[in-house]
Amino acid sequence: MNKCVFLVLFMAAALVVIPATAQNRLPDAPLPKWEGLAETPQMGWSSWNKFQTNINETLIKDIADKMVSLGLVDAGYVYLNLDDGWHGERDEQGFVHEDPEKFPSGMKALADYLHAKGLKLGIYSDAGTNTCACYTGSLGHEYQDAFTYASWGVDYLKYDWCYTENVNPKGAYTLMRNALRRAGRPILFSMCEWGSSKPWEWAADVGHSWRTTGDIGVGFMPIPQRYDENGKKSWTPLGVMTIVDINEPLRRYAGPGHWNDPDMLEVGNGMTVAEDRAHFTLWCMMAAPLILGNDITDMTPETLATITNREVIAIDQDPLGIQGLRLKKKGDLQYWFKPLEGGDWAFCVLNVGDEPAVVSLNWASLEVNDEISGRSTDFSKVTYRARDLWNPSVKPFTTRAKTEITVGSHDVALYRLSPVK
Ligand code: GLA
Repeated sequence: MNKCVFLVLFMAAALVVIPATAQNRLPDAPLPKWEGLAETPQMGWSSWNKFQTNINETLIKDIADKMVSLGLVDAGYVYLNLDDGWHGERDEQGFVHEDPEKFPSGMKALADYLHAKGLKLGIYSDAGTNTCACYTGSLGHEYQDAFTYASWGVDYLKYDWCYTENVNPKGAYTLMRNALRRAGRPILFSMCEWGSSKPWEWAADVGHSWRTTGDIGVGFMPIPQRYDENGKKSWTPLGVMTIVDINEPLRRYAGPGHWNDPDMLEVGNGMTVAEDRAHFTLWCMMAAPLILGNDITDMTPETLATITNREVIAIDQDPLGIQGLRLKKKGDLQYWFKPLEGGDWAFCVLNVGDEPAVVSLNWASLEVNDEISGRSTDFSKVTYRARDLWNPSVKPFTTRAKTEITVGSHDVALYRLSPVK
């Protein structure tokens, strides 16, 4: 047999053999994310904004008790999320443990405590070698960690992005999604990659929410750049309005089960009551996860009233799950709309100026034609009744005529518009 004939015969044989072999070696089917866990944006409390890594079992149990007794659980805040700082060491086999001094009864006991109160336990890790506060990260331990969390009874994982040199974001988050699925316990997957790799473009079937920005700080308007003692730029958190400007244009990517996450709330952490109200309202208009970040064992009646306003929360939790839009900006005023179920709309006027503003609502100039939801207001044909959600005792007006309202500095007016039948 000459060389050529041999080669042809060899290749023909290979063609017969390869498909048979390949059939026995199909790649593992991808593991879908847990569905049905965030049909509306998740609601809860997280330890980070107020306590950073200063957390322990006593504090968390106090928070849990207050979440029940103050009606926060009834209002929908069911996740109690430990952020960075709960980790102890990994053992010789690489299994992670809680810090035995901070959590002497163990994570399983804490989960049982929360579950008995109608709460769910959230935990935090990182796709890199370390968490942002330098505790152990999950890189190389993804399946092990997911199984550990599931065995503890964890219901929520926030997965951060520090110390991820040479790690591919899509690969890393998909790996943890698979691990969570394989571990067998439904766990909401909150991706915290700060928007660096545009997760809204690829993560709808990976996570239930993805951070769209860097970290929030206590400030309504943009927070000035900070400098260290040598005059070098130092890390500076983002103010509410900076985050809003980044998150608003991403509305087309959000929907039931997969939300844009503009970071946790700073309500009750030092802004004015009006700023807190505006911050909370904008998060609701943007269908954002509502994760409280204040010390709820010690808050003012105004803070409690802001975070438990059921009609405002209902804007965030509307079953259509459409992120709202900023229709227009005019000077210091912004006009926002969010389509709601039943033909309703949430309508918000925001004043970012330093003085109160008297605003004349001319409905013809506020017509919305929303290509993303396919909804339009049609004020010329449909009359809406406008209910003031922050002042529900004020008599509703209709959109039949122009109306004058006053909006305070760094404050909002928020209405639910319902068609008059
Ligand atoms: C990052 C995250 C924050 C918080 C800290 C914890 O900065 O973006 O939300 O989790 O890490 O160290």
